[in-house]
Amino acid sequence: MSKNNSFTIPLHKTFWGREEEKAAIDAIRSGTGVGDLSYSEKLAKLLEKDLGIKYVLPTGSGTAALELASACAIKKGAEVIMPSFTFSSCANAVILAGAKPVFADIDINTYNIDPLEIEKKITKKTKAIMVVHYAGMACDMESIDKIAQKNNLIVIEDAAHALGAKFMGKNLGTLGNIGCFSFHGTKNAASGEGGAFVTNDKSIFKIAEIIREKGTNRSSFMRGERRKYSWVNVGRSLILSDILSAIALEQVKKLEKITDLRKKNAEYLLKKLNKLSSKLVLPQVSNGTSPNWHIFAIRVPRISRDKVISELRMYGVEASFHYLPLHMSVMGKKLGYKAGWLPVTEEVASTLIRLPMHPRLKRSEMDFIAAVLGKIL
Ligand SMILES: Cc1ncc(COP(=O)(O)O)c(C=O)c1O
Repeated sequence: MSKNNSFTIPLHKTFWGREEEKAAIDAIRSGTGVGDLSYSEKLAKLLEKDLGIKYVLPTGSGTAALELASACAIKKGAEVIMPSFTFSSCANAVILAGAKPVFADIDINTYNIDPLEIEKKITKKTKAIMVVHYAGMACDMESIDKIAQKNNLIVIEDAAHALGAKFMGKNLGTLGNIGCFSFHGTKNAASGEGGAFVTNDKSIFKIAEIIREKGTNRSSFMRGERRKYSWVNVGRSLILSDILSAIALEQVKKLEKITDLRKKNAEYLLKKLNKLSSKLVLPQVSNGTSPNWHIFAIRVPRISRDKVISELRMYGVEASFHYLPLHMSVMGKKLGYKAGWLPVTEEVASTLIRLPMHPRLKRSEMDFIAAVLGKIL
């Protein structure tokens, strides 16, 4: 077992092959690459079928999908409850809509927003809950749905990590009013950059397609429903290039295989690490959930997390921490938040380590990761 400084076992690897190469070339040859050409349409149709959802709008990123969701469904001055253990995109989207992110604590086992903590944060101004299915593990959507119904709140699912993951047999991202997916290069289905906005609500879809297309009714024009298109509302440019849609389309076609390979790898790594379970916290799969193993996150509550990461890295294993909680960030402090306010979030963020997890991970590499961790711990 030798130490080195290059990552022989990277955190992520794309699952791209000839199909993605061919699709990108075909998209380049057949058009200009602008958005909403035939590949974007095919991508939307395939996602609609696979997810069992009525409307899909491909977007330039998961961030763009979240911004579109907020622009459609959140009014100025509203409060939106969300986890602090997430990416800045969630809070940015809400602030850009003129609303306020209100951070709620997470569950110590799932690292997802805790329904009891959501209830504590509800005020007269609360209009929405933005949930994040961290690592592709489902939030407790049954309890969250009950809270939303009782308080008349919109639910936006940040399913950036969660394509192919399920809750009670249903696809994550399709359980709230709006779902937002990411095709970022690290994601299970990756096109480099990219995302998708999904909803079953026709009125939300109608607003979204206008905002996404610079505030114009161009989408309706493209469907042949009108002879001209024009500016009808304030909008943004959030569509996905057809070249990236072509790559995303091939990835979505392979999603079942990708999810299956990740599941097999995660099960193998879990078995290998089980021997160390007195020294670390392994990922926990809640009843009724079927994760897509986008991230394999362990926690080391009794030893310096940063030391474990740097040791793993010295052995060529690209381990990594994850989010610095938003309420403790520079911007979070500008919003008036302070360290100490969300104890579970702070505990999880300071003890969590992401280990390599991707479809091409070999058993010998997982044996190595487990052996190195055993040595360190
Ligand atoms: C929870 C979460 N939401 C949203 C995003 C943003 O996705 P994108 O990089 O596609 O904009 C990320 C980024 O990885 C994320 O981790």
